[in-house]
Amino acid sequence: MSLFQPRESHIFKDARWLQPLSDPPGGKPLCRDEDLKFIASYLRDLFRIGQARNLFIFGKPGTGKTVCIQYLLGEIRKYAEENKRSVAAVYVNAGKTRTPYYTMLTIVKGLCLKVPDAGWQMFRLKQAFEDASKDQAIIVAIDEVDAIIFKEKEPLVYYLNRQARTTLILLSNKIEDATTLPDRALSTLQPKLLRLEPYTAEETKTILAERVEKAFQPGTFPDRLLDVVSDLASKAEDIRLGFSILLSAGFIAEENGRSRIKSEDVEKAIKSETKLDTIKSMMDRINELKKRQKRRGS
Ligand SMILES: Nc1ncnc2c1ncn2[C@@H]1O[C@H](COP(=O)(O)OP(=O)(O)OP(=O)(O)O)[C@@H](O)[C@H]1O
Ligand SMILES: [Mg+2]
Repeated sequence: MSLFQPRESHIFKDARWLQPLSDPPGGKPLCRDEDLKFIASYLRDLFRIGQARNLFIFGKPGTGKTVCIQYLLGEIRKYAEENKRSVAAVYVNAGKTRTPYYTMLTIVKGLCLKVPDAGWQMFRLKQAFEDASKDQAIIVAIDEVDAIIFKEKEPLVYYLNRQARTTLILLSNKIEDATTLPDRALSTLQPKLLRLEPYTAEETKTILAERVEKAFQPGTFPDRLLDVVSDLASKAEDIRLGFSILLSAGFIAEENGRSRIKSEDVEKAIKSETKLDTIKSMMDRINELKKRQKRRGS
C-alpha cells in the first residue's frame, strides 16, 4: 500500500475545521454580537449617505478581527445586492501585499476592475479607483495595516481617505492602542476606535465546541478535556492555540489506534504545541482528571 494512501479515521470527521485559517462553520463569528453590532452601527451610514466614519480595530492575534470584518463585508455586499444599492466592499491584507503599490493593485482588482498584474503605474491605479468611486460608495478594509501605515513615502491610507464616498476600516494586531498610532492617522482619519478583547474561557469553549462538532466524530472528544483546552487557549489569549491542540490531540489518538481522545493525548498535544508558563497548571489539571478517572475505574 502507498505511503500516501489516506486512512479512514475513527477520530476525525473533517479536520479542516481546525486549520488556523478556517472560517467559522456557521458563517458568523460566535460571541462577537456586541462588537459586530457596534461596527455595523457606524457602517450603516454607507447606505444612508454613501460614506461612514472610518474605523480602526485593534486586538491581539487570534481575537477574530479578520473573521469579523470578512463577515461584515459579506453582509454589506449581500444587503447592497438585495436592495440594489451601489456599495462595493473590498478587503486587502497589507501584511501580504506589503507595499502601497500592491495594496492598491489588490484594492482595484477587488473592485472587479480589469487590471494587468504588472505594467500599470500607481497613478493609473488611482485613476481607476477614482473612476470607480464616481458611481458607487466604496468601503476598503485594510488588514494588518501596520505594514504600510508607518511608511513615510506614498501614504496610501491618506490618499484613500481623501477620496469621495470612500470609507476605511483599518485592522491591526501590532498597534496596542490609539497612543501608538502615528499622530497623523488620528488627526487625519479621525477613526472610531474599537478593541476586540481576548475571548474569556467560556467564549473560547463555545468557539472550540463548534469546531469539535464539525471536526471530530461524535463522542470522540470528551467535554472535560475541551474545558482544559479552552482554559489554556484563553489564558494564552489566542484561539488558534486551541485549534492546534485539538488537531494535534486528534492525530496522537489516531496514531495510537484509539477511537476516543484520552487525557494523555491532550497532554502530549499541549506539550508539542505550547511553551507557555501556563503549561504547568494545565498539566496539574490533567493529572487531577486522570486521578479522578482512575478512582472511578474508567
Ligand atoms: N468569534 C469567532 N467565532 C468562530 N471562529 C473564530 C472566532 N474568532 C476567531 N475565530 C477563528 O479563529 C481563527 C483566528 O481568527 P482571526 O484570523 O479572525 O483572528 P485575528 O484577530 O485576525 O488574528 P491576527 O491578528 O493574527 O490576524 C480563524 O480561524 C477564525 O475563523
Ligand atoms: Mg487577522
